[in-house]
Amino acid sequence: KVINVVLSGGVGSRLWPISRKKSPKQFLQIFEEKSLFQYTVLRNKALVDDYMLVTNETQLKIANEQSKELGLTITKKIVESVGRNTAPAITLAALSLEPEDIMFITPSDHMIGDEQEYKLAVNNAIRLAKEGSIATFGIQPLKPETGYGYIEYDGEDVKSFREKPNQDLAIKYIRSGNFCWNSGMFCFKASVFLEEIKKYQPAIYEASVMAYEQSKEGYVKKEYMEKIPEDSIDFAVLEKSKIIKMVKSHFIWSDLGSFDSLISYAKDFHNDELFEMVKGENIVNSYAMCSKPVYATRGIDHIVLIEAEDCILLITKDKSEEVKQIREYAGCAN
Ligand code: GDD
Ligand code: MG
Repeated sequence: KVINVVLSGGVGSRLWPISRKKSPKQFLQIFEEKSLFQYTVLRNKALVDDYMLVTNETQLKIANEQSKELGLTITKKIVESVGRNTAPAITLAALSLEPEDIMFITPSDHMIGDEQEYKLAVNNAIRLAKEGSIATFGIQPLKPETGYGYIEYDGEDVKSFREKPNQDLAIKYIRSGNFCWNSGMFCFKASVFLEEIKKYQPAIYEASVMAYEQSKEGYVKKEYMEKIPEDSIDFAVLEKSKIIKMVKSHFIWSDLGSFDSLISYAKDFHNDELFEMVKGENIVNSYAMCSKPVYATRGIDHIVLIEAEDCILLITKDKSEEVKQIREYAGCAN
């Protein structure tokens, strides 16, 4: 069976103040009438046999409501009392499935275009997973982004995996021409993943087995969850495993990680009025998400203005990664 394991744990802190703890990015209707979570579930419907949610209690409620709107009930679930990042999340999911089940891991907060190319790529990944590999999806890199993982590849073979390199290394990787961005989606057999995590991160494996044994109907108790070492699948397994393959992917992909990437995606692939241009003479590359028109004088360039219910965010476009810190500064970790 192919199971789409949908990860939902993050709060989308770089899209604050539109993304909030109580209504995180993945559940917002950013584009048209569906949320990013709903688009995720729908795009995989014809490709998988079932779904599994790995999430926390707050998000489970929203996910259930939003699945219902699509006429779906997702029964398989792992509910984390505290998040320990993706390696434990995926390990717990793997422990609860059949060894031969194919896990298709997806985040719940990305946008993907070109369904046809996507289907081709996913079916290729499923084939590789059936052969016993850990399949990744390689995206043609556009700039030396430091927030992504990089896959050094030769055809389908993966020579190395480098999670979140520094700027200098990212530039080197892009120049070398045989690196792709890691999309954050993976495909493998449950048993294969468990073998790898046991081999490279025995502490995560042992603590997860314990936590899973003590769980009830997918609810993992806090005292056991807290004992699992925190790590991402990227650092914990992908940087070490020797059985990784890459499917070169030609679909349109964005993780909508920051306002900068949200603006690019909206501009390139959607004609909706998500952002207005800031108005004025010779104003360059400036956007507003606001209920009123925004005017500025010359010299106010490369800015982004975001209006939320209770505050306004004003940033320069190239600093949109720093919104995370502003969110904390504003004391709005909600
Ligand atoms: N259930 C659960 N529990 N989900 C989690 C947890 C957790 O503790 N932590 C993260 N997630 C979910 C997030 O909500 C997101 O959907 C997905 O797992 C990936 O986590 P991120 O925190 O967004 O990872 P990232 O963006 O820093 O990096 C990953 O994605 C990049 C592409 O967007 C890596 O895989 C990179 O290599 C990759 O390039
Ligand atoms: Mg992410």
